[in-house]
Amino acid sequence: MKQEKYERLLPQVKALCEGEEDMIAKMANVSALLHQEFGFWWTGFYRVENGELLLGPFQGPLACVHIGYGKGVCGTAWKERRTVVVSDVEEFPGHIACSSESRSEIVVPMFRNGEVVAVLDIDSRELATFDYVDACYLEQLVAFVQN
Ligand code: SME
Repeated sequence: MKQEKYERLLPQVKALCEGEEDMIAKMANVSALLHQEFGFWWTGFYRVENGELLLGPFQGPLACVHIGYGKGVCGTAWKERRTVVVSDVEEFPGHIACSSESRSEIVVPMFRNGEVVAVLDIDSRELATFDYVDACYLEQLVAFVQN
């Protein structure tokens, strides 16, 4: 079950991130680990830079580089400062289709000093891949990247 997988991954992510200062390096390894373990379609980070989301380390097909505040699922998670789970991207108004293969998505904001500094975005080629279990574990996981 995915819960067990996340339980196994959490200490790995902790070990990968502990003692590392550079957020981009940590994002690179964490996106690789998640992508490989779960076989997601796209797994990566966008960082808040100059008032927009800028593409960061990722695994998967090419993605859009700039996303505005409140735009798409990523910009919505940033604006609303919460994890956004989308079971069917076609039903999410304003969804940004970087890949037409993507069917469902989860975006988890990463906070530092109360501010959103980045988001973790994961896309799946199947409908309704993500739920509160993913949200709960991914929120714990990004906390390691942020430190
Ligand atoms: N679908 C996202 C854009 C990023 S890509 O999926 C990698 C969104 O609507 O924000």
